[in-house]
Amino acid sequence: MKRKLILDVDTGTDDAVAIMLAALHEDLDLIGVTTVNGNAELHYCTDNSLRVLDYIGKPEIPVYAGCPKPLVRNDFPIPRTKNDLTEKIHGKHLPLPETALKAQKQHAVEYLVETYRNATDPITLVPVAPLTNIAAALAVEPKLVDLIPEVVIMGGGHDVGNVTPAAEFNIWADPEAAYAVFNAGFEKLTMVPLDATHKALVTATQCRQFDELGTPAGKAMAACTGHRIGIHDKIQKMDVEHSAPVHDALCIAHLIQPEVITLEECPVDIETQGALTVGRTVVDKNRRGGKPVNCKVAFDANAQLFVDIMMDTFAKNK
Ligand code: RIB
Ligand code: CA
Repeated sequence: MKRKLILDVDTGTDDAVAIMLAALHEDLDLIGVTTVNGNAELHYCTDNSLRVLDYIGKPEIPVYAGCPKPLVRNDFPIPRTKNDLTEKIHGKHLPLPETALKAQKQHAVEYLVETYRNATDPITLVPVAPLTNIAAALAVEPKLVDLIPEVVIMGGGHDVGNVTPAAEFNIWADPEAAYAVFNAGFEKLTMVPLDATHKALVTATQCRQFDELGTPAGKAMAACTGHRIGIHDKIQKMDVEHSAPVHDALCIAHLIQPEVITLEECPVDIETQGALTVGRTVVDKNRRGGKPVNCKVAFDANAQLFVDIMMDTFAKNK
């Protein structure tokens, strides 16, 4: 049986690749996409998600719009550091054709609560965006912590930050929501932080190979990731020349071949107050905080396997 999953996204260029991999891989059944404010205002994230599904020939996968702003902070988008990537690396519209597809009328939070209350099969939840929708769903239905069998989050950073020196964007954009999710008590919680995604880089040469597949997914992968590489080359060079991380898709690759990332059990908590550290994932590798282990953290990744999984999958999108 295919593995069922729901993706929670703020589509963006790497969310787009995650949606394509989840929608197209033969082992996965993407039953729904929920959108949230993050990389751009909610309506852009929703429209971009619809564009991706339409472009790869998966218009039947429903998209549900969620929360338009963080749970608590009323100053988002905060004037970010001048080097902030988000605005530049995602923009408003993806480099994909417009679509006539529309989001479902039901709110994403209602969809999450209703789907998990009525689920008869296990459904993995993969949030690759600020955690506002997930925290709101937990507030509506605390039993979700037992109804959701597994959560795989793209977010956080131990040795690496991107939106500030201390924090990664998804956690920083709604730290109170992240605090609620990491402290909810999920049985199976995996965090895929920048420490792993920055080791799973995709190069400009590989983008050309994706484009040469000639399939919609290959071309979209090349366009989205090629744009990412151009921005990274300008304002955040990676360890491999002319490359970029494709953060969100690494979570989906992990569902397909778990060994694409290397995991370590750790207590993780979220800073919601510090002037310099708000949004930091505090990963207690040396067990100094006295808190129990609440998740598995990815500290490494296999870049070639990551690219191979995507290349094989996108080649079949005829
Ligand atoms: O920090 C990377 C994360 O922030 C990714 O999910 C990207 O899409 C943005 O949401
Ligand atoms: Ca994202």
